[in-house]
Formats: sequence, structure tokens, C-alpha cells
Amino acid sequence: MTHETAQGFARGLTNYGDFDFSLYLRRSFAASMGYSPELLKKPIVGIANSFSGFNNCHRHFPELLEAVKRGILLGGGLPVEFPTISLGEIFLSPTSLKFRNLMAMDTEEMIRAQPMDTVVLIGGCDKTVPAQLMGAASADLPAVQLVAGPMMTSRHNGEQLGACTDCRRFWSQYRAGTVSDTEIREIEGKLATTAGTCAVMGTASTMACIAETLGMSLPGTAAIPAVHADRLRAGEASGLTAAQMIRNPIHPSQIITKHSVENALRVLLALGGSTNAIIHLTAIAGRLNIPVSLQRLNELSDTTPVLVNLKPVGSDYMEDFFYAGGMSAVLRELKPLLHLDTISITGETLGDRLDVDPGYVDHRVIAKAEKPLEPQGGLVALFGNLAPRGAILKRSAADKTLFEKEGRAVVFSSLEDLANRVDDPNLDITEDDFMVLQNAGPKSTSGMPEAGYLPIPKKLSTKGVKDVVRISDARMSGTAFGTIVLHVTPEAVAGGTLALVRNGDRIRLSVIDKCIELLVDDDELDRRRSAWVPDVIPLEDRRGYDRLYAAEVLQADEGCDFAFMQSIGTKETNQ
Ligand code: FES
Repeated sequence: MTHETAQGFARGLTNYGDFDFSLYLRRSFAASMGYSPELLKKPIVGIANSFSGFNNCHRHFPELLEAVKRGILLGGGLPVEFPTISLGEIFLSPTSLKFRNLMAMDTEEMIRAQPMDTVVLIGGCDKTVPAQLMGAASADLPAVQLVAGPMMTSRHNGEQLGACTDCRRFWSQYRAGTVSDTEIREIEGKLATTAGTCAVMGTASTMACIAETLGMSLPGTAAIPAVHADRLRAGEASGLTAAQMIRNPIHPSQIITKHSVENALRVLLALGGSTNAIIHLTAIAGRLNIPVSLQRLNELSDTTPVLVNLKPVGSDYMEDFFYAGGMSAVLRELKPLLHLDTISITGETLGDRLDVDPGYVDHRVIAKAEKPLEPQGGLVALFGNLAPRGAILKRSAADKTLFEKEGRAVVFSSLEDLANRVDDPNLDITEDDFMVLQNAGPKSTSGMPEAGYLPIPKKLSTKGVKDVVRISDARMSGTAFGTIVLHVTPEAVAGGTLALVRNGDRIRLSVIDKCIELLVDDDELDRRRSAWVPDVIPLEDRRGYDRLYAAEVLQADEGCDFAFMQSIGTKETNQ
């Protein structure tokens, strides 16, 4: 065995000009960790651990980690855990998305730089799984994605509740004056009561389902609750699979293909899943030269039914989804629409997997394809002069009475402007107007936060108005709902038409025509464009990662990755 084909601690030796010396040195330092000579000879399964005191969703990882280690030992490997940065959604400022690419770089480089033969990635909270999949795709070492699993729900006055669709519902009621100060404090303590990711089909759960659909997680594991014993068994099985992949390596580039990405898009649409997932899937696929176009999303959306009755689109929670049959049941319903030749980390094709009876399925939670919740997919891309490269509307979580509408723009030039004026009693707004937020896209100072769910002005919410059309270049939490047009591309800071919208302009939204148009003539737009200056901190006044991010981040339709992190090669080579 040469040093290029070596396994375990003998992999990737530091080159001092004498590889025997490097191996001798590494073995002696590895031995200082107390490993026996027998274990030192084993191939290594690395475990990328994103545990953090700033990540409530990952608080059970120490126990899950032990289960993974058991599985690896069972499969004849040596488990070696290593930390990566973690992204706790609620604890990061200005927004967790800004750090997804940093975590992806950390994950990729630590997989590549350290001596491991395969790797288990343990993540869960919104941006962590995309980051780990991006890093694993680029490193292309055999990898198993293990997710945290969702939180369990809680109860308030007999009503089931869970993070975080209910967080928003109760907060809206509080703003409207129908929930008191005392009650909102009580609810605050009941929204997130166990380890695990948000309890609805938000971004974390959507990405867990996408990871399973891509084939990067073990079949049937996406929806297992974080605190269920099956989650630990999934951890053990993931460790065992990663150890088996040492002998039978299957690389991410064999699993994440044009076909598996299309399957993932179908699943995203059928779940009524998070709008963030389209950005993340585009970024993951981009690492392997697989383009994801919004036009293709629309084609798939027109022919993919919504099947899953989970909040924020429906009424149930992830624990219900798990007991109802989980991803196996969803994939079975979608079978005629899927590419069945894709493979997973087990080496099994999707077709083989779906030949097995999924067992009991609760069709109140997972609808049959012939009797769907909605005949068309949950997401739709809109185009027009306001979003030449596209914008996203989660139509399954929106008010259909607002889908074909023209309205007057009420413009907020930044998040600060929004916070300062949204509840001003003198704000000139009616329920027929369109709220427009500018300068909150990926290159903005705020870095594309989940601020697209603009609060309904108190002036309207206290009158009982629950939804108005809201348009921005920001994102929206996967747990949110409303008629919200997001990811407007190009963004305002990059000189998109969104930057030119003024109070009183007319905007036309048509979901039927898949369009979003600013009804201002071209001459006037040209005049405004020639006077426009970007509202952003200039690059020369920024430093470090903040500067790198602002300079290099791509637009939403390209997945907000860094251009220099995408694969070097010709697009569409990876089929
Ligand atoms: Fe971690 Fe929602 S805060 S998944």
C-alpha cells in the first residue's frame, strides 16, 4: 500500500520529504490518545460533529454521537470525531445564511485535510445540513448524512403547538391584541421543549427529507423524532453504513446527480416545503456542476401534487409525519414521477427501495397522489421586469384570493426603515397595497435574512387583516406563511429593478401567468436607474469573512454559494 492508497491514520500524511518519518510521527501522536495498536491500524470513519452550546436543535448530539461510534466499531472502523462550526438558526446575526458557506468550507477542508476513509455528517438546524452536503459534495469522500430529527410538540390550553409556525401565529395574535402579555410569555416557554429541529415542515425538516431523497441519508430516517430511540438506532446504522462504505465506496458525486436532484425538487414541491430549500439544493447541486433552473422548477411544480398535510401549509407536525409513514410513503406516492435509477449510500436504487411495501400509511397526513391536498406543487417561480431572473412564492402557504391582483407599492428601503415605520399609525397603507422591502438580498448589509415575512402593520392587523402581498429580495423562514414574494433576483443592492420601486407605483402579481411586473414605463425606469446609488456598506470599509461574503456571494437563483466554491468544469457533466 503506497501513501496515496493508505487507509486510516496513514492517509494524507504531512510531507516532510520522508513519508516513513511522517507515519512514525503521526502514529506516536495518535497513540497518545490512548488507542491500542490494533485500533491504530483500522480504517477511520470521521464524524463531523456540529454540536454547539449555541445550537439548541443539536443538544442531543453527544448521545447520538455515541450511537454513531457504536455502528462504526461494529463495521470494523475506528470512529474519530471532529468539530466543525455550527449554525444555530436563532442565535446568529445578521443571519445564519451568511455563515452556511463558511461551514461548507470548514466541512470540506476538514474532510479533505484529515485522515479519514469515509465520514458521517451530523447536522440538523436549517443551514447545517446544506452546508455539510455542499462540503461533502466538493470533498467527494464517501459520506453519510445523519440529521438531528425534529422536536416533539407541546400543549397550550389543550392545543398542540410546536416551533415555529405557532411562534408566528401567536405573535401575530399578540400584535393584533388578542393574546395578552402574560399569555405570550407562557407560550414562549412552550414552543420548543425538546432537542431537535423545528417541529413543522420548515427548512430543517425539508432539508432532512431532501437529503434522504438525494440518497445521502439512510432510507426512512429523515422524520424520526430527535428524542425517539429510533433516532439512536439511525445513528448506529449510519455509523455502520459509513464503515461498510470503506470496502464499497460510493461517492457523493455518484449519488447527487441530475436525476436525484430532480427527485429532490419533486419532493420539495410535494412536501409544500421551505422556500429556502430551493436555494440550498441549487448550491449543493452547483458543487457538482448540476444546474437547477427556476423554469424547470415551474415545469415540475405544474405536475407535482402537494401531498403532505404539515404546518405551515397544513395542520400536522413532523411527529405525525413520522408515524404516518414518513418519506417512504411520500416517495411511494410520487413513484410515477421519479427517476428510479438513482442510488443511495446503501448502493440500492430508488426503484429497489420502492418495491418494498412501506407498511402502514396514514393518508390523513400523507395524501394519496390521486387525491392530493393541492394538484400543483407548493412553490412557484415568478418572472417579469421586477424579477427578471425570478422570485419565489410559496403558493401552498399563501392566500389564493391575492394571487391575481394589482396593487399600490408601499416601499420600505431597508430593514431599519421597516422597523421604524411599520407600526406608525400614520403609515399610508391599506389591505389592497403591496408591501415592498428593498436592500435585504444576499449582497446587502443584512445578508438576506428571513425578513421577507414582513409584519402586517398594526394599523391593519388590529382590524383583522391577516395577509397582504409582500415582496422582497429577502428570504422567509420555512415555518412562515402568507402571500410573500421572495428572493427577487437580481436583488436591489445589485441594481435589480426592485431598487427602483417608489411609493405609489403599481405592481401586478399573477400566479396564473407566473409573473410579477412593476407597471412603470421603461423610460422612467431608465431615469431612476441613472440616479440610483447602492444602499450598502462599500467593500473597502469591510474586512474578513464579511468582505469575502459581500464580494463573492452569488444571487439567490444561483444558490447564494461563492462562485469560486462551485465545481470547476463544464455544467451538466454530472448526470
Ligand atoms: Fe433549528 Fe428551527 S431553530 S431548526
